[in-house]
Amino acid sequence: METLIVEKSNWRVEVLSDLEALSHRAASIFVSTSRNSIATKKRFAVAISGGSTPRRLYALLGSEVYRDQVDWQRVHFFWADERCVPKEDEASNFRIAFDTLLSKVALPDKNIHRIKGEEAPDQAAMDYEEEIRRFFGGSGWPGFDLILLGVGEDGHTASLFPGSKSLEETARFAIPVYLKEPGKNRITLTLPVLNHADQILFLVAGPSKAAVLSEIFGEKEKRKLLPAGLINLLRGNMIWLMDQEAAGKLKGL
Ligand code: 6PG
Repeated sequence: METLIVEKSNWRVEVLSDLEALSHRAASIFVSTSRNSIATKKRFAVAISGGSTPRRLYALLGSEVYRDQVDWQRVHFFWADERCVPKEDEASNFRIAFDTLLSKVALPDKNIHRIKGEEAPDQAAMDYEEEIRRFFGGSGWPGFDLILLGVGEDGHTASLFPGSKSLEETARFAIPVYLKEPGKNRITLTLPVLNHADQILFLVAGPSKAAVLSEIFGEKEKRKLLPAGLINLLRGNMIWLMDQEAAGKLKGL
C-alpha cells in the first residue's frame, strides 16, 4: 500500500500499511535524525516511551538491519515516562528498551539516563530533572533532539493523562503522577519539555486508537481535552506515524 502523507506547517502525518511498515519507517527516521544531530551537535539526545507500539522499532534498531547505521557512542537515551517499579520489573519502560535495544548495541552505560522507578516518586522526578539539567546545561528548557511518544485510547501521552493537574505544570521538567490504582504511579516529562523538543515522533497503531485519533485531528475544542492533542512544538516539527487501522476514522486531514 502506498504511504499516505499529509504535511502542514510543522507537522506531518504518514499512514502506513501496518505496524511492521510503521516500525521500519520509524527506524529510518531515528537513523537520519541521529545522523543530523550528531553531525551538528556531536550528540543525539532522544527520549523514548514505553507501551507496546514501539517495541518492534526497538527490536529493529537493535538488529543487524539497522544497528550499524547509528553511532551509538554519541546517542544518549532518556525516557518520556516511567512506571514506579524497579528496572527489572516487566512493567518497566527501561526494561523494555534494555531487553530489545540497549543491550544489543555498543552504547556506553553513561549514555543511559534512566528514570529511577524504584525510588520514591517525588525523589525520582527530582533526580531525573537534575540529570536532564546536568546533561543539557544552561537554565532554559531542554531541547531533546527527538522524543518518541505514543497515544493511549484515552488520549494520554507519556504519562500525561486527561484532566490531570500534571498538564498545568509550567516550571518543572519531570513530575510524579499518582494514579488511583495502587502501585501504578508514574514519572513523566512535562508538557513544556515535550513542546520544546526539536522533533516529536508519534507511533500509533491498531483499531483501538482510531476513535482518539479522529478527536485529536478533529475539532479544536475536543483536541484540547486530550494530552496528545496539546503537543504543539514551539520550534520543532512533529511526525505522526499511524497504521491504516489507527487512521481508519480520520477525515479530510
Ligand atoms: C507508557 C507509555 C504510554 C504509551 C501509551 C500507548 O509508559 O505506557 O509511555 O504513554 O505510549 O500508553 O501505549 P501502547 O503503545 O501500548 O498503545
